[in-house]
Amino acid sequence: MRKGEISAESSIVVLTGAGISQESGLDTFRDAGGIWARYDIDDVATPEGFRRNPPLVHEFYNTQRREAATAVPNPAHAALAELEKVWPGRFLLVTQNIDGLHEKAGSKALFHMHGTLDGFLCEACGRRGSWADDMSTNSTCPQCSHKGALRPDIVWFGEMPYFMPEIYRALGEADLFLSIGTSGTVYPAADFVREARQAGATTVELNLEASRKGRGLFDLEIEGKASDIVPLFVDDLLRGRLPPP
Ligand code: APR
Repeated sequence: MRKGEISAESSIVVLTGAGISQESGLDTFRDAGGIWARYDIDDVATPEGFRRNPPLVHEFYNTQRREAATAVPNPAHAALAELEKVWPGRFLLVTQNIDGLHEKAGSKALFHMHGTLDGFLCEACGRRGSWADDMSTNSTCPQCSHKGALRPDIVWFGEMPYFMPEIYRALGEADLFLSIGTSGTVYPAADFVREARQAGATTVELNLEASRKGRGLFDLEIEGKASDIVPLFVDDLLRGRLPPP
């Protein structure tokens, strides 16, 4: 397949970030007033921060878990779930988000590379599982019954994201790569566009503002709110009207 030609057999990989959930009422990290303007990354998003002050880290994720539990997917999440359902070729959605809104919208071919808010990881037995309630330093592991060794199943800075071999395999076979609602500042996700380009994929960014303008990473940059531009783009794609780069 020549670059730019997308057909029904094309393989699609989508990467999403916090921007896709912004219109569902969840804060992004790096926009003005975002989460990292209010919290120090070192305190709440590193293993060292957790060791220093576990109650602070639990409270941070408990708040996010409660907010995510009542949040509702928006038309951008719905459009990606629909695309997966009807696309005849291969489709993979990789999200950096921990909020669970893609699943609520019906996405199935989905990797949470940074973990999820509704999961626990036990530092005593190493096992993972579902977790719906607040978590604390008194929580008991449902697997090994150890008390006080649970942490949220979130990938922190300095830790290896989940599903990397599977994601790189899909990027290496991608014909179309979409980056939606992410600032492209956190690695390895920020490099996925380069992997996809090397594989010959057409690369498209859909974001409020082009994240890396002028760097030649994306063949097409579509600016706007995710709930406006993602459904329109998906509609064009399904009608075989991908805008030319
Ligand atoms: N529609 C589309 N894009 C939006 C919208 C919206 N309504 N609102 C904001 N954006 C864009 C912003 O312009 C920004 O480029 O979404 C992007 C959000 O960027 P970040 O806040 O950096 O979030 P993200 O890229 O997901 O962060 C990556 O950083 O701290 C970590 O682990 C955390 O997974 C997260 C990672």
